[in-house]
Amino acid sequence: MATSPCRPISLFLILFWGSTILFLSSSAELQRFPHPAKSDGSLSILAVGDWGRRGTYNQTQVAYQMGRIGEELDIDFVISVGDNFYESGLTGVNDIAFIESFTNIYTAKSLQKQWYSVLGNHDYRGNAVAQLDPVLQILDSRWLCMRSFMVDAEFAQFFFVDTTPFVEKYWTHPKDNHYDWREVAPREEYIKGVLKDLNSALRESLATWKIVIGHHTIRSVSEHGDTIELVKLLLPMLKAYGVDLYINGHDHCLEHISSTDSPIQFLTSGGGSKAWRGIFTPTTEKLQFFHDGQGFISLRLTKTDAEIVFYDVFGRLLQRWNMNKLLHTFM
Ligand SMILES: *[C@@H]1O[C@H](CO)[C@@H](O)[C@H](O)[C@H]1NC(C)=O
Repeated sequence: MATSPCRPISLFLILFWGSTILFLSSSAELQRFPHPAKSDGSLSILAVGDWGRRGTYNQTQVAYQMGRIGEELDIDFVISVGDNFYESGLTGVNDIAFIESFTNIYTAKSLQKQWYSVLGNHDYRGNAVAQLDPVLQILDSRWLCMRSFMVDAEFAQFFFVDTTPFVEKYWTHPKDNHYDWREVAPREEYIKGVLKDLNSALRESLATWKIVIGHHTIRSVSEHGDTIELVKLLLPMLKAYGVDLYINGHDHCLEHISSTDSPIQFLTSGGGSKAWRGIFTPTTEKLQFFHDGQGFISLRLTKTDAEIVFYDVFGRLLQRWNMNKLLHTFM
């Protein structure tokens, strides 16, 4: 008699405990970083890729112009789309390249903001794990690099995707067998996990602007062209969830391609240092803009509007693109 009132409680505890374990094991969520917009409801960002060359190949010039434009736009953060350190990432957390290619280059006041970075294929050629190590934040508090994660700015959400493991040739090509696949291999399982986490995050997203960032191109008219693994595995998901922008590097140029059968815009910002490849391959999608040279892009967002601007190595405005959500909201 005396023990009976305890039963429902212990049963509840067991159920609760059980469901907690189930919940934990079934949802390896993307790590989420809140980054509130400005009090005027806007958010300004710069995106740059393929940069770390100790200032050479115009990296310093691009950095200077980023500082100038960053000041003008009062930027909130910087996105690095990968290939952070050439030729082969960092050798370890003590690699001086981190200071020589990052801290000592992006010195402008406006660039002393949070940097959110993904890894590129060249980063995987070195010690990829080192770039993810929080110990680097002691050397430079701006640095944050993860494989896949999200930045939540309420009306705009940024989904960072680790694209290098998708590309099959990095795993199979005999002369390309020096990638740091620690914490990644085996490939199939890893990719499945990335896509599952991204799918959950996109499904739950209530943001007006959904922006996906990865190192590799989905669509490109430059040297590397389309990344077929991403066209096959990632693009259908981005289209299904109405993603607005996909921002990448990998091709060392600036480009804007519009999808012909969905609202997604493909933006390449891979002009952080070495550029000028002299290669152009037509695309079946709609090419809006292509600059085979150095530069970077800015993105200004409000709840209803987006403005994307491309700048060259002199900080000259090359192309402006505006998007508006009001029509969709009220029609
Ligand atoms: C640096 O930029 C200038 C101007 O676009 C260009 O003429 C020059 O070739 C660039 N240098 C390198 C090494 O890319």
